[in-house]
Amino acid sequence: MYVSERLNEHHVLDAFDSGSGPLDQWLKNDARRAQGAGMAQVYVWREPDSQVVVGYFAITPANVAPDDLSRSVRGGYSSRIPGYLIARLAIARQLRGQGYGSELLLDALESAAAAANLGGGRLIVVDAIDDNAFAFYRHHGLTPIGGTRRLFVRIDRVSETIGSVLYGERPSHTETVVTGFRWAITAPPDHTLVLQLEPIAAARRAAKDSAVGLFSVAGFTPIVLPTDALDSARAGVTCRIDSPVHLTIVIRQEAGPAIDIPVPHDSPALTTAVKADGFVRTYATTDSIGASGLIDRAMMTRDMANGVVLGARVAVATAPSG
Ligand SMILES: CC(C)(COP(=O)(O)OP(=O)(O)OC[C@H]1O[C@@H](n2cnc3c(N)ncnc32)[C@H](O)[C@@H]1OP(=O)(O)O)[C@@H](O)C(=O)NCCC(=O)NCCS
Repeated sequence: MYVSERLNEHHVLDAFDSGSGPLDQWLKNDARRAQGAGMAQVYVWREPDSQVVVGYFAITPANVAPDDLSRSVRGGYSSRIPGYLIARLAIARQLRGQGYGSELLLDALESAAAAANLGGGRLIVVDAIDDNAFAFYRHHGLTPIGGTRRLFVRIDRVSETIGSVLYGERPSHTETVVTGFRWAITAPPDHTLVLQLEPIAAARRAAKDSAVGLFSVAGFTPIVLPTDALDSARAGVTCRIDSPVHLTIVIRQEAGPAIDIPVPHDSPALTTAVKADGFVRTYATTDSIGASGLIDRAMMTRDMANGVVLGARVAVATAPSG
């Protein structure tokens, strides 16, 4: 797994080799200057214990010409359409062909979508550097504009566009259970429960902090890497099986009533697995579930790097009757 973060002065760029000379040279010679001048934001991937960059992308604001865009894509406007350009994207040669290119693209799309969430924007565009890159973007559902090598995706469609490539049709299931909470459940055999405290605007930051605090007090511990093991079940937290399609996570507080967090789902197989294992892996996080309701591994890795993923192995307290 790789850490994704904004380019900084500690990153080592010299050895970067994606097989595309212009993209390698730009990273080594121009990226820091472009970022310093506010022309682009550059994000890099590195291993957790190394500063050597193994992938990168750059995003920059864009005003997309409306020509050749359908009325619905333009949202009915005939002016230029605001959005973001993925100006560059490349992965180290040794990592190719293992799915990392998809994840890097997802990382770039999600970063652009996050920027648009704050500052507005309707489209993300890319200018494919060659026919291979064009085919790569087509494969991920981006749509060509006219007869050019420019492709776009609507920002409100980002997760569903690429999510189906990364995760298949709908391998996980999400329910909004109470305001501010959302579950995503990974497909078998993982059966991991990821509880997302809804992305909360700055004004509601305190609410988010207190929700994260609740899980810390209950014995959830920070997860720093996707590989971190959850060794022991947490005494203060249990999982109750209410029916084949309903679990409840119960958090006992030192003072006050226990807090029940229902986990409705549509997978009896999940209940069977939880019952057989005697525990369920549960994570509380802030921004790891994409708009489509799927767990987004790139976002979750970033959440981990930011120290906001808390996890616990939660013991099953009550077997279902019958
Ligand atoms: C383009 C690039 C990022 C792809 O990364 P990668 O690691 O080779 O691709 P992945 O292994 O992640 O492939 C992911 C998916 O994309 C598909 N894919 C990869 N390259 C493709 C291509 N040229 N055409 C069509 N599909 C392609 C794979 O088949 C795979 O699909 P699947 O998940 O359905 O099996 C990488 O090759 C690269 O950095 N190239 C040099 C720089 C470059 O051209 N960047 C684009 C700049 S505009």
